[in-house]
Amino acid sequence: MSDKDLIESGDMKIGWVRSHMPVLSIIRESFEREQPLKGHKIAMALHVEAKTAALVEALAIGGAEVAITGCNPLSTQDDVSAALNTRDNIKCYAKYDCCSDEYYEAIDKVLDMKPDITIDDGADLIFKLHTERTDLLPGILGGCEETTTGIHRLKAMEKDGALKMPVVAVNDAMTKFLFDNRYGTGQSAWDGIMRTTNLLVAGKTVVIGGYGWCGKGVAMRASGLGADVIVTEIDPIRALEARMDGHRVMSMAEAAKYGDIFVTTTGNVDILSKKHFEVMKDGAILANSGHFNVEINLEELTAMASSVRAVRKNIKEYNVAGKRINVLADGRLVNLAAGDGHPAEVMDMSFANQALCVKYIAENKLENGVHPVPHDLDMYVAELKLKSMGIEIDELEPHQTEYMEGWECGT
Ligand code: NAI
Repeated sequence: MSDKDLIESGDMKIGWVRSHMPVLSIIRESFEREQPLKGHKIAMALHVEAKTAALVEALAIGGAEVAITGCNPLSTQDDVSAALNTRDNIKCYAKYDCCSDEYYEAIDKVLDMKPDITIDDGADLIFKLHTERTDLLPGILGGCEETTTGIHRLKAMEKDGALKMPVVAVNDAMTKFLFDNRYGTGQSAWDGIMRTTNLLVAGKTVVIGGYGWCGKGVAMRASGLGADVIVTEIDPIRALEARMDGHRVMSMAEAAKYGDIFVTTTGNVDILSKKHFEVMKDGAILANSGHFNVEINLEELTAMASSVRAVRKNIKEYNVAGKRINVLADGRLVNLAAGDGHPAEVMDMSFANQALCVKYIAENKLENGVHPVPHDLDMYVAELKLKSMGIEIDELEPHQTEYMEGWECGT
């Protein structure tokens, strides 16, 4: 594609999602008027696709200078990257399918702007700031973290006294994880799997590794598509929840024998490994929609395979003792590496939270450590979203408030 065509295609994608992100649009308009980010430099490492571009634009329109790169080499869309590079005050370094060296070089380039605010999805920038670029830490006002795994890491750093900057846990806003992780991953993981394989889900046995917010969404949509769903867990409460939601629950060692399609959503390593590959059925399909590319142990699978070949775009077939095991998108997030990521309406809320939290960092002096998203921001996002959907809800009447708050009239 020529540069002109790339930019045109990126612009079209961004325009489409922007028109489906009403909450972010309202925030963008207020940013344009009030310029709350004037003079701030924002470094970002997020999946570079159209919804992220809409966030980047809102931040730049709010007065910031923004530099962005990807947080996963396979999720970058080059047309979106090209379109972003035509905007004022925005520089995008992300490139699809770049090698590991290029990936980390791009992170360095983003940090070369000497940011005062960071936005991460998986804590790559923050990790770099705490290892090779510590000279930049004194200039950092704070960062935002988009995903569960990033927040686990940052909390571990905080516990060890190693976190030297404030970070807002955007993932933990209710208007983020209840919707993005559940309904977003639930839909987009299946979108990625279905468009990549062009196979039927109905009638298949689908094994979901992990019944957290992502796993619940992926399992719910698998059931809706007519699959027989098996869940694996390590947490007894979540395992019970899965059972009572109507799914079968068993160990992965057992489930590995039955699955036609496997989807990992744990944030943990080696959910699928040698002992599971050994007992899988011929033709099993493996996809990860959890964390980076560590949930499926591809090193072990490669070592066991007599041959590996591409059988379709984004599908590699591993021949293991005559059985074919198909891995989607090299075990990277299937919804992003083999799809367009979450639906725009869901990212509307996630990125509204990001934009408001960046403003919150710019306007408040936060202590080092992991901070929750202020409850009023979370509620504001929910209220705007309901309004954009044309939904009105009731308000407590004074006597109802009195009843709820009182203790004398308990019966
Ligand atoms: P969560 O913490 O709610 O759920 C993870 C679940 O996995 C927990 O119930 C945990 O008990 C279970 N688990 C951990 N180790 C396990 C093991 N060995 N076997 C079986 N189950 C195990 O986390 P959430 O929000 O569901 O996120 C999961 C992962 O997905 C994270 O890495 C997160 O960063 C990522 N994520 C991916 C998205 C995407 O676009 N694909 C979107 C949002 C989050």
